[in-house]
Amino acid sequence: MSKTTAPVIVTEGLTRRFGELTAVDSLNLTVYPGEVLGFLGHNGAGKTTTVRLLNGVLTPSAGQARVLGLDPATAGAMLRRRTGVLTETPSLDERLTAREQLQIYADLYDVPPQLVRTRVDELLEIFQLAERGDDRVSTYSRGMKQRLALARALLHRPELLFLDEPTSGLDPVSVRQVHTLIREQSRSGNHTVFLCTHNLEEAQRLCHRVAVLERGRIVALGTPAELGRNLWKGVRIEMETAPEAVASACMALQQFSPARDVTQPNERPILRLTLSDREEIPQLVAHLTAAKIPLYRLMPQEPTLEDVYFALHERKEKG
Ligand SMILES: Nc1ncnc2c1ncn2[C@@H]1O[C@H](COP(=O)(O)OP(=O)(O)O)[C@@H](O)[C@H]1O
Ligand SMILES: [Mg+2]
Repeated sequence: MSKTTAPVIVTEGLTRRFGELTAVDSLNLTVYPGEVLGFLGHNGAGKTTTVRLLNGVLTPSAGQARVLGLDPATAGAMLRRRTGVLTETPSLDERLTAREQLQIYADLYDVPPQLVRTRVDELLEIFQLAERGDDRVSTYSRGMKQRLALARALLHRPELLFLDEPTSGLDPVSVRQVHTLIREQSRSGNHTVFLCTHNLEEAQRLCHRVAVLERGRIVALGTPAELGRNLWKGVRIEMETAPEAVASACMALQQFSPARDVTQPNERPILRLTLSDREEIPQLVAHLTAAKIPLYRLMPQEPTLEDVYFALHERKEKG
């Protein structure tokens, strides 16, 4: 990632309204070459609308953007030749084979004809579709289709790749494969990736910087480490004990001063609590063991997008 070269994306007050609703609200954002930027937000936060504005599929109601030095509102077609987009629900022609699908796109994107064959083979190989490359897409699993859509978005070697929720609806194995592919893309060459996701863990894992979007506005922006330091300080713990030990476990936790917010979420012998730091976990285990509380399972929970929003709102209320 280099901040000395010209940014790949710059937006100033970028805004899009649909009637009364402001889907994207005065967005100011700069994305640098080679960066994987996470655009993190719940359903309806305005991620897809932003991607469409940045590709000139939609025009802004106010403000402006420059993407690869072009104005998407007026030079959309030219811009889209240089960007790759994996849309939320990529449309693939089910009747075609993966190879045919990629060949058609190669034509569409003016990949030099003498390069098409090698490039298609190469992508089928990388995306683990080589063996099934001559089967119809209708016979593919959801994960295979997503990998094919990703391969298609990369066919013309775009400088800037937009990925709109690339792993939503995929099984864990496919998610891992797609993550590896995205990481490899960002490592090889100077690809810039704009990654929309509602999954905090995905954003933390893959992105250099993360913008947190809520109701069309960026409410936080920073590296995962910076956001982590500022926004999700606590460590939530879930632990399982024996049914007859729940009451004494609760008592033991009350006597352990670092533990906060102890709850029993349901009828099961499971307790949740919050610590301020993971370094307190071994102390917690020692304390419970000393109190003779049977401990069958103790899991630190990954922070979720809810935790981030909660921390942001709490901070706002405190001023
Ligand atoms: N073409 C449209 N017409 C009207 N409202 C829209 C349109 N596209 C998106 N919206 C609304 O804009 C908001 C942001 O949507 P979207 O950008 O798709 O969010 P996300 O991708 O983060 O889920 C939502 O409230 C959505 O219903
Ligand atoms: Mg969306």
